[in-house]
Amino acid sequence: MANHHEKIEKNITLMAILTVVAISFGALVEITPLMFQKDTTEPVKGMRALTALEMEGRDIYIREGCNNCHSQMIRPFRAEVERYGHYSVAGESVWDHPFLWGSKRTGPDLARVGQRYSDDWHYAHLMDPRSVVPQSNMPSFKWLDEAVLDGEIIGKKFEVFNTLTKGKTHKDDAGNYIPLYSAEDIAGAKAAVEGKTEMQALIAYLQQLGTHLK
Ligand code: HEC
Repeated sequence: MANHHEKIEKNITLMAILTVVAISFGALVEITPLMFQKDTTEPVKGMRALTALEMEGRDIYIREGCNNCHSQMIRPFRAEVERYGHYSVAGESVWDHPFLWGSKRTGPDLARVGQRYSDDWHYAHLMDPRSVVPQSNMPSFKWLDEAVLDGEIIGKKFEVFNTLTKGKTHKDDAGNYIPLYSAEDIAGAKAAVEGKTEMQALIAYLQQLGTHLK
């Protein structure tokens, strides 16, 4: 009995195999329950789908790489909660594909930036960050103010999001899942964004961030 440990410690192959088994077991125990736990797989109460303009803004956010400098995930620590607000909960991002949680914070976390500043503030900040935050090293994104949306594929995006969120949306009284976007939403999507600037779309997206959790 006393020799068992020695055997493992002196046999590197056995040691490696058992290490992998131990880690895999840990992962299994930690991760598997989350897949079946309701508050990680269901949207929070009162959550609504992004509007057409907000959805376009989200894609611009990804395209411009805002997520390389900004996370969207408030950790459950006192310092974070006091600075940014209620920590992020899984039910807020069940419809987020891909997730924009991130971990790199060159700038502040944006998970709850919605409604914290006015649209005018965001406009000034994105045109020239130093005009409102003198010590800022965030780049300017002023070209967004000249780029105009044509809305050609926003209806298609809605359809794709309907597929991605199947079985993860709100339910009606009869217990059936309500699609994220109705046929009406899809038909009206183009008209809702056509002619708007990318700047308007991005600001609309920022203004709803983190506002769904009541
Ligand atoms: C190179 C890194 C970098 C990139 C890229 C970047 N930011 Fe920032 N951002 C910062 C820094 C640093 C700050 C803090 C200083 C300031 O407020 O300007 C900041 C601040 C902000 C704030 C204010 C947050 C608050 O709570 O005060 C918002 C909103 C914001 N950024 C949005 C964006 C958006 C939208 C994009 C993409 C279009 C973007 N940022 C791209 C670095 C970056």
